[in-house]
Amino acid sequence: MSFVLNKLFRRKSVSAVTEVEGVDSGLHRVLTVRDLTLFGIAAIIGAGSFSSIGSACFSGGPAVIFLFIICAVACGFTAMCYADFSTRVSASGSAYTYAYVSFGEIAAWIIGWALLMEYSIGNIYVAFSWSGYFVNLIETFGWHIPLWLTTNYSDAHQAFLDGIVGKLYDAWDLAPTIFGVKIIFDLPATMINVLVTCLVYLGTKESRNISNVMVIVKLAVILLVIVAGIYYIDIDNWTPFMPNHFSGVMAGVSGVFFAYIGFDAVSTLAEESKNPQRDLPRGMIYSLIICTVIFIVLALVLTGMVSYTALNVADPLAEVFALKGVKWMLFIVSIAAVVAMTSVILVFQMGQPRIWMAMSRDGLLPQKFSKIHPKYKTPGFSTLMTGLVVGVPILFTTPKFVLDFTSIGTLFAFVIVCGGVLILPRDNNSREKGKFKMPYINAKYIVPVITLVAFILIFSNHIGLVINEDQSYNFPMIIFYIVWILIAILSYKKNYSLIPVLGLLSCCYLLTGMGWTNWLMFSVWLLIGLVFYFIYGYRKSKLNV
Ligand code: ALA
Repeated sequence: MSFVLNKLFRRKSVSAVTEVEGVDSGLHRVLTVRDLTLFGIAAIIGAGSFSSIGSACFSGGPAVIFLFIICAVACGFTAMCYADFSTRVSASGSAYTYAYVSFGEIAAWIIGWALLMEYSIGNIYVAFSWSGYFVNLIETFGWHIPLWLTTNYSDAHQAFLDGIVGKLYDAWDLAPTIFGVKIIFDLPATMINVLVTCLVYLGTKESRNISNVMVIVKLAVILLVIVAGIYYIDIDNWTPFMPNHFSGVMAGVSGVFFAYIGFDAVSTLAEESKNPQRDLPRGMIYSLIICTVIFIVLALVLTGMVSYTALNVADPLAEVFALKGVKWMLFIVSIAAVVAMTSVILVFQMGQPRIWMAMSRDGLLPQKFSKIHPKYKTPGFSTLMTGLVVGVPILFTTPKFVLDFTSIGTLFAFVIVCGGVLILPRDNNSREKGKFKMPYINAKYIVPVITLVAFILIFSNHIGLVINEDQSYNFPMIIFYIVWILIAILSYKKNYSLIPVLGLLSCCYLLTGMGWTNWLMFSVWLLIGLVFYFIYGYRKSKLNV
């Protein structure tokens, strides 16, 4: 038994990772800090900013900006942890590799498995949203794609069964039947996946150039939306500021957190960066800061232009201008949304193969996954597999299903990364000038004192942050309180570093916003992953020898 446990928790040493993987992996080292920042923005601003921000504004009102700030704080602390890891372990696997050196093999496998949700499953959601805006865009040119080629099978079937008349119902009704099976699938979503897969297969440099152009276009249009929108702001729309109390604000957590996902994808490009130890942390943190400012201003503009009650739509940025009668902006917003989401798909489609590559080099996946294409210098097989993992479920899943799945998987990975920094021995070596070093602030007294004060306030009902009728005493919240107390005790005993502690706690707090079904699906997903691990990785791990 203890033999099995030892094997499950065997760790890679930091020096082994850096020696074997950091030096010459065969990938092209072409990315600078500017490229990495643009990559970060490319990954962050997408379906979240163009789509799910609307329902978050609807449930939280203008006070949704608090949720953007909370998520920014959680992501900011986590980014520092990613940055700290990326300066110690400059290899492609991102959180997977970080977990391998801090917690051991089984945790690394679980993270690799959870990241599959962030990168591939997340891309399914973005591809669906992309398709929605794309269809709107080409309709402005008078082109029309049949309904049964622009929707997913499950939603259309459900609408038909429930008898809900509308586009989904019509899609089912009008779809052709072959051998008794209705042919319904989202053709544009499938198409964009195929195109991006080809691009990523052909090369990092090509992908980078295209990605950089797309980021500039989407930033320019978002700025235009903000500037044009400011003109239409009516400050009366900001009253009431928090119409549904803090629980309404927290109800948007999945969508708002999804908007931030992406800064961590920068860390998968370690082996393609010219100077990863200096540039990766900067790329991550710069992109996060820029996007946070954009999100907060954007949320204020949207809720200032129209009543928050009008924002529960799939295309809120277009809706606000439609309501104000500014037709020319609709076209621009649709183009920007298509461009923005293409760049998100691109970055995640580049990230996933690089994680598989790292897992394969460790023996946890077959060797094919780490093979570099001799001509294009990209992980060719993994790239094609990613295309399949995104493309096949597009035919069967629904956007709602994949959105929840992505947010919980990513938050879980963030918790492990923050926890990993706490477990690794503190790095007291001085760094070369310009290289990132996480500031060490001793949490020994700070965290226990904050905990004590917070609990006194919580249980005497004096703050609205976690206290509200429906939220403060539910089961995930109680688990969170227990984790919080444990971390406070450990901080006192082990002199933990404050930043990762705050990162860990804030991500755990956001996890309390996930519903039961999400947790159930996530657990099943992890169990399936463990079965794969025991069938293959456990036996083939390079650490076996
Ligand atoms: N943050 C990315 C988006 O909103 C995943 O599309």
